[in-house]
Amino acid sequence: MKGVVLAGGKATRLRPLTKVTNKHLLPIYDRPLIYYPLQAMSRAGIRDVLVITNPEHAGHFIQLLGSGSEFGLKIAYELQEEAGGLAQAVGLAESFVGHDKVLVLLGDNIFTHDLRPAVERFAAEQRGSVIFGVTMEHPEHYGVIEMDGERVIGIEEKPTNPRSNLIQTGIYMYDEEVWSHLQGLTPSARGELEITDLNNIYVQQGTMRCEQLDGYWIDAGTSHEELLAANIAVAELRRREQI
Ligand code: G1P
Repeated sequence: MKGVVLAGGKATRLRPLTKVTNKHLLPIYDRPLIYYPLQAMSRAGIRDVLVITNPEHAGHFIQLLGSGSEFGLKIAYELQEEAGGLAQAVGLAESFVGHDKVLVLLGDNIFTHDLRPAVERFAAEQRGSVIFGVTMEHPEHYGVIEMDGERVIGIEEKPTNPRSNLIQTGIYMYDEEVWSHLQGLTPSARGELEITDLNNIYVQQGTMRCEQLDGYWIDAGTSHEELLAANIAVAELRRREQI
C-alpha cells in the first residue's frame, strides 16, 4: 500500500503564523507538524509516501524532509498548484499510487493510534474505503458520520445541526476505484473538491467502513487554540514516549 500526506492549502485560519510559511511546517513541541503524520506512516509499515504541497513552500519541504530516510520512508513530492480542495489533491497522487491501494493522511493530524493492523487487513483483502472515527464534543467543526449499527449511512461536512458526535479524522484508506470516483466529483459551494463528497460515494455504494480511532487525536491546523492544545498535549505525550 502507498501513502499520501496532504500538506497544501493557505491555512488562512492560522494567520499571521501562515503568512510566509505553510502550516505543516509550524512547530509542535520539538518538531514540525508534518513530522507526526510521517512518523504515523512509518509506524503503519508504509514505505513509499507522496507529500503533496503548494509550489510556494515545496522547497522548504524538500530541505526539511529530503529523501525521507530519517523516517525510514522513501518520500516523493507533488505540487498542488491551486487551492482546489483535499479531494483534488488526492487526485494528484494517481500515477504515484498506480494500481495499489492508498492510505491518505491530512498533514495536520496528530495521533497515537497504530494504523498497522488496519493497513494490513485492508491491503490483504478488503475493497472500498475505510475512515477512522472519534467522538468529539463539538462535531460541527468536522465531517460528521452517521451510522446505522455497523453501517455508515452518511457523512456531512461541518453541519450546523450534527446528527452524531462521531467525526471523521483526516485518515482515509481507498481502493483503486478512488480514481474513477474522483472523476465524478463537482466543486462544492466554496469551489473545492471535498474529501467528504468522495467518501460519500463509497457510502452510497455500501463499501465504506468506519473504524474507531483509539488514543490521542487532534487536527492541529483548525485554529490557534487547537495549535496550542496540540503543543501542550504532544509535549506530555513525548515525555511519556507515547508519540
Ligand atoms: C477536514 C475534513 C473533515 C475532517 C477533518 C479532520 O476538515 O474536511 O471532514 O473531519 O479534516 O481533520 P478541515 O480540517 O480541512 O477543515
